[in-house]
Amino acid sequence: MTKLTNRCEQVSLDIPPYIPSGEECRLFEMAWMRQLPLLLKGPTGCGKTRFVSHMAARLGLPLSTVSCHDDLAAADLTGRYLLKGGDTVWVDGPLTRAVRDGGVCYLDEVVEARKDVAVVLHPLTDDRRILPLDRTGEEIAAPPGFMLVVSYNPGYQNILKALKPSTKQRFVSIEFDFLPKAQEIAVVSVESGLDEARVAPLVDLARRLRSLRGHDIEEGVSTRLLVYCACLIDSGMSVKDAVRAAMIEPLTDDPDVKTALVEVANAVIA
Ligand SMILES: Nc1ncnc2c1ncn2[C@@H]1O[C@H](COP(=O)(O)OP(=O)(O)O)[C@@H](O)[C@H]1O
Ligand SMILES: [Mg+2]
Repeated sequence: MTKLTNRCEQVSLDIPPYIPSGEECRLFEMAWMRQLPLLLKGPTGCGKTRFVSHMAARLGLPLSTVSCHDDLAAADLTGRYLLKGGDTVWVDGPLTRAVRDGGVCYLDEVVEARKDVAVVLHPLTDDRRILPLDRTGEEIAAPPGFMLVVSYNPGYQNILKALKPSTKQRFVSIEFDFLPKAQEIAVVSVESGLDEARVAPLVDLARRLRSLRGHDIEEGVSTRLLVYCACLIDSGMSVKDAVRAAMIEPLTDDPDVKTALVEVANAVIA
């Protein structure tokens, strides 16, 4: 394993490994200590979710993750009355449970959720730190041990799905991007088991393909795809087939674009 230099990287077996690219671990710790909500922005597969699970484990906090989607409404987070054996009982949603119990509540891709979710988040993300439950009339004060973390991918944004400034301005924010080359090689090697010398050309190719983003491809190769590619090679697949399956097919469905990407791959991975 690569020699790790930042104190973020002191990993023990039950802490998911995370290689930082800057001061994000310190910032998370400070936000946690001062009870500030945190927003992580960046492209898909660049380490946001891994960062949150790493930090929660490091700080010994329970973590509850909700993957937001366009059907997710406030009630899915707060809770609802359900019929149980003839009775109607209130059942807490994941956000309410996290506010009651403390710990990190992570709303992944929060912009995807329905608009009423922002209404629920607002009183939780200012100095009130309360979660009002309209349906039960309850108002839960978040304990010091509660932290809200949300993420979104600014690249995906359209006018209908932007995070409103009034929401954005309630969070301390960290911008994520793909790791610098050396760190990305280390991550992919550690995650896949493939040695760094064999990972390096894959990272070169990914960086090359990322530079083409915007022409015919929407999103660049993520670190996640690089890890998949390296896993396939580590399991015995040829570099050519693994690159095709994990770094080209996931990027585009257009046959001409695919052919062009294969040519780039052949040029980079001789
Ligand atoms: N800084 C990092 N340290 C360790 N692993 C990373 C890092 N960045 C990305 N990864 C790897 O990439 C994968 C995808 O990252 P993830 O956190 O799920 O991305 P995101 O949430 O930004 O879409 C992880 O499972 C991990 O294998
Ligand atoms: Mg994620």
